[in-house]
Amino acid sequence: MLIRFLHLIGPMLWLGGGVAAMLIGFSSKADSHEARVVVYRLLARVHALVIAPGAVLTLLSGVVLTTNIVTAGGGDRLGTPGMATMQVGGLIAAVLMVAVSLPTANRRAAIIKSGSGPEQDAILTQLRKRQIMASSIAGLLIIASVWGVA
Ligand code: HEM
Repeated sequence: MLIRFLHLIGPMLWLGGGVAAMLIGFSSKADSHEARVVVYRLLARVHALVIAPGAVLTLLSGVVLTTNIVTAGGGDRLGTPGMATMQVGGLIAAVLMVAVSLPTANRRAAIIKSGSGPEQDAILTQLRKRQIMASSIAGLLIIASVWGVA
């Protein structure tokens, strides 16, 4: 019961935090450098305190649920396409989140804080593209995971 609860709370934090971060990121594009220093710092915090913990919670609770089902002899329940989509898609999305999105958010905050100029702008553009790519793939995989078990 507790694990199932955590397995539902995890994706809420993950996807909810991710959508909020994405919208804040988009709407801060035209803001001043000073404003974006603050926004990027807060986005890095949201990644570290809400989005990444949501991803880790989802993955860990998913592993525990899987183990419980297998040890109870219900392994055949895990072989359905929807379940496989959730497990594989969820795993890839969580790795993308922790290995790419989180460090990218931290780097963006550090780079923008270091000053404004063409050098910083070039790195920020590259990091932004990386963030959009990783988060979009993870977001689609989360949605596919929910769809798979809906
Ligand atoms: C984006 C990631 C994921 C999302 C959004 C997600 C979502 C869900 C949802 C909505 C349920 C149904 C819960 C219920 O009916 O009580 C569920 C069940 C489950 N999930 Fe996930 N999940 C994700 C990742 C994973 C991963 C990575 C694993 C395994 C490593 C996993 C293993 C399971 C298992 C074993 C169940 C229980 C199925 C059952 O009792 O029949 N999930 N998941």
